[in-house]
Amino acid sequence: MSGWPDTRFAALVGSAHPIVQAPMAGAGGVDLCSGAVAGGALGSLPCAMLGPDEVCAQAEQVRARAAGPINLNFFCHEAPGSADDGAWRTLLAPYYAEFAVEAAPEGRARRPFDEAMCEAVEAARPEAASFHFGLPSEALLARVKAAGAVVIGNATTVDEAVWLAERGADAVVAQGFEAGGHIGRFLGSDPAEAMGLFALLPQVADAVDVPVIAAGGIADGRGIVAALTLGASAVQLGTAYLHGPESEISAVHRAALGGEPTRFTNLMTGGLARGVAGRLMRELGAIRAEAPPFPLAAAALAPVRAAAEARGEFGFGPMWAGQAAPLGRALPAAELTRVLADQALAILRREA
Ligand SMILES: Cc1cc2nc3c(=O)[nH]c(=O)nc-3n(C[C@H](O)[C@H](O)[C@H](O)COP(=O)(O)O)c2cc1C
Repeated sequence: MSGWPDTRFAALVGSAHPIVQAPMAGAGGVDLCSGAVAGGALGSLPCAMLGPDEVCAQAEQVRARAAGPINLNFFCHEAPGSADDGAWRTLLAPYYAEFAVEAAPEGRARRPFDEAMCEAVEAARPEAASFHFGLPSEALLARVKAAGAVVIGNATTVDEAVWLAERGADAVVAQGFEAGGHIGRFLGSDPAEAMGLFALLPQVADAVDVPVIAAGGIADGRGIVAALTLGASAVQLGTAYLHGPESEISAVHRAALGGEPTRFTNLMTGGLARGVAGRLMRELGAIRAEAPPFPLAAAALAPVRAAAEARGEFGFGPMWAGQAAPLGRALPAAELTRVLADQALAILRREA
């Protein structure tokens, strides 16, 4: 761990480097996490779309393949009851007709953290547990901590960072709007307020005493050193890990990482998230008022997506990616982690 200017976060979770491989639901699992752990990062398993048994099984598989700390990641959104998604289904009707599928009954693929998931954490005993869209209830959070996990919350504003630290987060991610995937906004909801990392990070670092993890648009050693300079104790990279062989993305998605512009859309889940455009975004526009709240939009879209993907068309599902995607290199996760650390440490040595 020597050579890093701030070892607070790495010491807290026990990683060699202050680098977190970001959890990426639907895009990375056991292979990606094990590789990142082997390279010296805190590896993450995205659990929002898994059942409790799968969480335990995947954690065990990583433990068998790599020695080092792991992070289990969950969503804490308030599950909307049964929002009226009639307007959304009407908007999708031409696609139901084209792909000859029926509108599906409501389903909920992305589950908020609950009692059953808390039991999975107690069984798996990860070094860290990270939460998107807020934190679990006080009682569940106390159990996560009692299981030995460092609790990480995700903030997109200074207010959210303070809220998380006051409620017991041991570290806070400052997520800038450059980031791929869902922007984890949970206090307030005006998308026009989304902040870039260069403005957000130093304000968060000034506002909270816990270590801050910078996320959004970091893809190489320069970005890591810039984040450390702005007050981060660690960095979290998602998109950079998508280029490598362990990510579970389509060939279309992979090719788009080379230079397609990214934008915020609410079409895939109802929540605001950054990704590259496919056919649905091009034909409907990236943001539609008809989309029901997160995560309900995904249910009505699911049959169209499945039929399209069976035909080799990938524009009806998320192709999440952040703004720094073109800076990425197609390296295995262990090697990428080591290269990132070496690049950053070389810059830090020159500056010393
Ligand atoms: C494909 C993809 C899926 C993601 N899924 C999740 C997730 O399941 N949970 C989560 O907390 N963050 C998720 N994120 C956001 C990341 O945790 C992180 O904030 C982001 O990747 C950092 O920005 P970068 O992509 O520019 O590196 C996802 C990001 C991507 C690119």
